[in-house]
Amino acid sequence: EADILDKLPLRGKKILITAGPTYEAIDPVRFIGNHSSGKMGFEIAKAAANLGAEVILVTGPTHESVSHSLINTVPVVSAQEMYDAVHNYFSSSDIAIMSAAVADYRPKEIANQKIKKAESSFKVELEKTKDILKSLGEQKAHQFLVGFALETNNELEHAKGKLKKKNLDLIVLNSLRDKGAGFGVSTNKVTFITKSNEVIANELKSKADVAKDLMQQILKQINA
Ligand code: CTP
Ligand code: CA
Repeated sequence: EADILDKLPLRGKKILITAGPTYEAIDPVRFIGNHSSGKMGFEIAKAAANLGAEVILVTGPTHESVSHSLINTVPVVSAQEMYDAVHNYFSSSDIAIMSAAVADYRPKEIANQKIKKAESSFKVELEKTKDILKSLGEQKAHQFLVGFALETNNELEHAKGKLKKKNLDLIVLNSLRDKGAGFGVSTNKVTFITKSNEVIANELKSKADVAKDLMQQILKQINA
């Protein structure tokens, strides 16, 4: 029996995960989005479920799909929908891992009808979306909170800043300078930074293996 418990160390734990991009509507047929594939978040969901956790996977529009008895998928489209879904589940979660590429801005107004072409140039005014991760950091109680940081320069400094500003327990740094890391590919190279400023660099791996490493790191931190 001890063996089974070792293999399912997250049995009975509830994990909230976000994945994919968000789409911010301009009019009924157009949106502002990004290149996130959702792969990393879906792999984290599978890795967590394989350790026995009950997973809520809140996902933006993606081609990924998963079928696992311990994973409940909650599809959303916009940053506001993702915010609402995440806040529905956060208080009952033990661990939250926010890997979604949430839009930072959205059109201030959404046209009711398709916008017709007219002038030679066209401006869309944008307003900030809510920072989902930051809002969780502000209200977290017992939860272990994990964020991601996508950076192209001064990576460690920026990631450490986000860890602190958003009151995280762990941040996963993704550098777009690393070949084989980032959008659309099935590999990734990440660095974990803990609340106590421990920096753990990892090799380039499949996203599935990065997800397993992340879950092991979280287990280590929780049990420490
Ligand atoms: N995030 C979020 N809600 C937002 C924007 C970001 O929850 N509206 C989360 C992401 O899911 C990620 C973390 O915040 O876990 C960092 O996202 P990132 O884009 O790297 O950083 P930002 O704080 O948005 O800052 P910037 O884009 O200016 O670097
Ligand atoms: Ca951002």
